[in-house]
Amino acid sequence: MQDKVKAGFSKLSKKDKLKWVAQQFADSPESAERDLTNFWLSDESLQRVFDGFSENTISNFILPYGVAPNFLINGRLYTVPMVIEESSVVAAASSAAKYWLDRGGFHTTILSTQKVGQVHFSWAGDHQLMMSVVDELREYLLRDVVHLTANMEKRGGGVTGISLLDYTHLEPEYYQLRVSFETCDSMGANFINSVLEEFGNGLERFVAEHPVFEGGPREVDIVMAILSNYTPECLVRAWVECPVADLSEGQFEKETPLFAEKFAKAVRIAHIDPYRAVTHNKGIFNGIDAVVLATANDFRAIEACGHAFAARDGQYRSLSYCTIENGIFRFWLDIPLAVGTVGGLTRLHPLAARSLEMLGNPSATELMGVIAVTGLAQNFAALRSLVTTGIQQGHMKMHLTNILNHLGAAESEMEAAFHNFSDKVITFTAVRDFIETLRKTPAADNVY
Ligand code: MEV
Repeated sequence: MQDKVKAGFSKLSKKDKLKWVAQQFADSPESAERDLTNFWLSDESLQRVFDGFSENTISNFILPYGVAPNFLINGRLYTVPMVIEESSVVAAASSAAKYWLDRGGFHTTILSTQKVGQVHFSWAGDHQLMMSVVDELREYLLRDVVHLTANMEKRGGGVTGISLLDYTHLEPEYYQLRVSFETCDSMGANFINSVLEEFGNGLERFVAEHPVFEGGPREVDIVMAILSNYTPECLVRAWVECPVADLSEGQFEKETPLFAEKFAKAVRIAHIDPYRAVTHNKGIFNGIDAVVLATANDFRAIEACGHAFAARDGQYRSLSYCTIENGIFRFWLDIPLAVGTVGGLTRLHPLAARSLEMLGNPSATELMGVIAVTGLAQNFAALRSLVTTGIQQGHMKMHLTNILNHLGAAESEMEAAFHNFSDKVITFTAVRDFIETLRKTPAADNVY
């Protein structure tokens, strides 16, 4: 805990900020300083780029960057970059990619690409009067932002619709301009917000000048102008399908129809029960967030939107669906994904640029497809384990490495532990006891 207010912290140099933090909070300030400094990049100009992303930076927080190869999507092979700290996720994605590689691969289609922005405002006059000018207002506002939209229009985007919504029955004097946008390959936040703020100014002028408002209030109060991260019309579908008989694999050979039924039931359960739905969708986001992060897109926006979409009929439900009809197993995911492949940090972060390069420098819609597929693959891998062997078998094997690292195990101790736990239940205590015993045992008596 901080003991007293620190004035002028933001004005300190990076080194002094780090020193202050270490002295305030660490048992051993020197070693804290060393730990935090150890993660500074040796390339100073690159470090300056990173420091520029945020404020009061004192270090870099790194996450593992993995890749999942062999994703066949719409007939093209992709290696998918994934940034995630949870063990098993990349392994699960890779295994699902491999599994579907032999069964026709993944397919995607873009259902829509519209983004949304809102100008929330108050006006104290007769609501019928306000609603009567909507067509004129629309034209007026669009004329007013040509200087902002011209470039985007050249790229095939721009403002695609403006509606005026009367919410005075819910909140006194409250109206909303709801604006839809096409932002092509950019996520478009800056473009959308600039246009919306200009719409706010235009709206004020329109009401002040238009003859219809003579005698009525001439002032509009702009409450706020901001994009909405809820983009249900920026939607992609990803799916896999094959005859039920083709699902068979190794240990599940004889039980394939049962496996397919159980799998479909697991998906239906996530449509019925929100407790299960949240965990089910969390598994989907294990894949989605990892690619969103690797391409430096906004994972908070993607999560917020995805979860709101999952509750669009009033109950939180699974984002994926599964059917078995006429012997065909079909598993799919519909998800809104407002992402960009130009602008933002997508090129500024050198590893995001490498991720996009790895994906063949995709358009935003192609990236939507790759991200949705990774979410679906993750969901497939999780459900396949859950309805067959259970999740812990694979998960704890991966987790064993983390436990061993935590215990500071040497390479030979790791090897011995992997051998020992290949057929045993893995718990932290069991692994710790094993390593302690190993360390007490004379080398000659170790028979692993
Ligand atoms: C763990 O990160 C994700 C799962 O819990 C997802 C699921 O239960 O479907 C395995």
